[in-house]
Amino acid sequence: MIGKPLNRIDGPLKVTGRAVYTSEEWGVGQPLYGVMVEATIGRGRITRLDTSRAEAAPGVRGVITHRNAPRQQPPDPSASTYSRALPVLTGPEIHYFAEPIALVVATTFEQARAAARLVEVAYDVIEGRYDLAARADQTFSPKDIRGWWPTDSIIGDFDAELGKAPHQIDVTYTVPYELSLPMEPHCCLAVWKRDAVTVYTSTQIVSEARARIAATFGLSLDNVRVVARFIGGGFGSKLAVHAETMLAVIAARQLRQPVKVVATRQQVFHLAGHRPASIQRMRLGAAPDGRLIAFGHDTTQKACPTSDYIEQIGVTGRALYAAPFRRTTHRAVELDLPPAEDVRAPGEAPGLLAIECGMDELAYALDMDPVDLRLTNEPATHPESGLPFSDRHLVECLREGAKQFGWDRRPQRPATLREGRWLTGYGMAAAIRPHFQAASSAEVQLHPDGTATVRADMTDIGTGSYTILAQVASEALGIPVERVRVELGDSAFPAGAGSGGSWGATNSCSALSRACDALRDQVLAAVPDADRSAPGGLVELVAKHFPAGASATGSIPDMDKEPSFAAYSLASYGAHFVELQVDADTGEIRLRRMLGVFDAGRIFNAKTARSQLIGGMIWGVSNALFEEGSIDTRTGAFMNRDFAQYLMPVHADIPAIEAVILDGFDTRANVLGGKGIGELGICGSGAAVANAVYNATGIRVRDFPITLEKLLPHLPSQ
Ligand code: MOS
Repeated sequence: MIGKPLNRIDGPLKVTGRAVYTSEEWGVGQPLYGVMVEATIGRGRITRLDTSRAEAAPGVRGVITHRNAPRQQPPDPSASTYSRALPVLTGPEIHYFAEPIALVVATTFEQARAAARLVEVAYDVIEGRYDLAARADQTFSPKDIRGWWPTDSIIGDFDAELGKAPHQIDVTYTVPYELSLPMEPHCCLAVWKRDAVTVYTSTQIVSEARARIAATFGLSLDNVRVVARFIGGGFGSKLAVHAETMLAVIAARQLRQPVKVVATRQQVFHLAGHRPASIQRMRLGAAPDGRLIAFGHDTTQKACPTSDYIEQIGVTGRALYAAPFRRTTHRAVELDLPPAEDVRAPGEAPGLLAIECGMDELAYALDMDPVDLRLTNEPATHPESGLPFSDRHLVECLREGAKQFGWDRRPQRPATLREGRWLTGYGMAAAIRPHFQAASSAEVQLHPDGTATVRADMTDIGTGSYTILAQVASEALGIPVERVRVELGDSAFPAGAGSGGSWGATNSCSALSRACDALRDQVLAAVPDADRSAPGGLVELVAKHFPAGASATGSIPDMDKEPSFAAYSLASYGAHFVELQVDADTGEIRLRRMLGVFDAGRIFNAKTARSQLIGGMIWGVSNALFEEGSIDTRTGAFMNRDFAQYLMPVHADIPAIEAVILDGFDTRANVLGGKGIGELGICGSGAAVANAVYNATGIRVRDFPITLEKLLPHLPSQ
């Protein structure tokens, strides 16, 4: 059952509209509606705030500002990024554009929205720092990268050896701000009962949301319940809850009625985090046979005063290719913009754009096939730690992908394959994504009627968690999958690490697998010897001996308590292949086909896994060709704050796309042998697209996204 391409068990609920998302919760009584008012400056101070007209508007029940907001706790920097307190409306200072300055609460949404426009504000504006490129030399060195990785990793005399290398490249890539922008915007419905609050919120990690709410309001965890049964996408932007949740909690308490706050699409751009823009210098030195001598990746990214978030952009290259002399660094530039947060495949997504385009540039400099260049530099052990790989099949991904794609038809020289106006190009790139584990628990009950219930605070952000958990229970308990009921997204259930970092599936399924084992042990221990080998198995034993059913909980620890994570380098791998065409006159880029071949150990559901992977590959197309959060460098505002202006691929942009998953089972990863796949598809796919654009045109655009105006001046003459 594990691995089967089952349809989502929650699919019928979703297509019939019966899956209840946060803003659709109606079981709590009539809510009030809160609409957030945003600052319209990037940095400064509120000098006048007049809410009288808003308060007098029809239906308005209250306007909450820094003047009447309750005192909240300051963030504790030792707490995890997403669980630390997030006080809102703390004072008249404005730290970034669109920071919430008020919540207008009314009987109807329309009344709240109308009244929100009546809040009058005047500011003292302070000149802010908004332009990364203009300040790229004003960097600081973060003390470490998220407490997990060293800021710099320098092995040997990189500069000297690079200088001596027979073939060298030194190129700089820039990656813009990118945003998660899930279809369901960030939203919350808060309901107080005496001193306890129930918070329906759209979040990837229930336990982090609960901890953040408790920390912000000085509540005990027991007095905070978080519910997130269905989530319309997250992609990192819902690892934490944001101001919408804090404001709903405050308003519901003050007004003694449930309050619902839903961010607008425009608000999401500033309210939830973005991927920090980055400037990435790739320096590679190689011997004539393609062997890397020096691997250098120096990264500079946007940071801000209100957050210590640094994206691990330079960590990616530490694990990918063999090279004796190495240098990977992180620098940051403080800007007065909203805090950055994780966006799908933090580190790898932007890092591999530079690394894998850099490797492509080196392949041309060496006159070597780009696949061969990667094969030549496949390390035997982790290139920096020397740890053995738990299970690494990057070479198979490259070989199998090249074969299935017909890579041998690639034009060796750029801009040489032309049909009429269309220039055809092939590109490829490697993918790598580390595998993580975090403490997680799950509970299983086997009822006397042969059905089972699984419970965990795990979330399903559209990925298929409900389905794979049912598959694991079905297999472990020996019952049909239809008899498994899965209940997720409630802090009343056993706690885990939710959906994020591509760890949700393996964390929650491993915990559940252990719960099922524990349940089996418990049942077998309690029944007479003669019954143990009953043909009906566990179900029959429970029916006969456990009139109230049997239940058990299973847990897995954090990875630092798992010996295999210290003994092995654990990651998922892949290889991307792209064919596209570029109109030689207009620069229009049309993809023709994409193939990804992936190695992630055992797959829990072939269908939902494929969806994750092709979704990631499409996001890579977006990174390469479409996506860019544009900052107004006068105000620090994202200018293109909607789906009309923040471009991403649509169906017509995506051609034949296939994800092939190699059979596998990584015994060192966990009891089920699976590794993370959620973010694997996006890793490297953008670089494969960019490399295909180069192969088609001979034009190397190093400033993402590759848009028409960057190609046009360089297109080959007729
Ligand atoms: Mo992912 S960026 O860890 O949700």
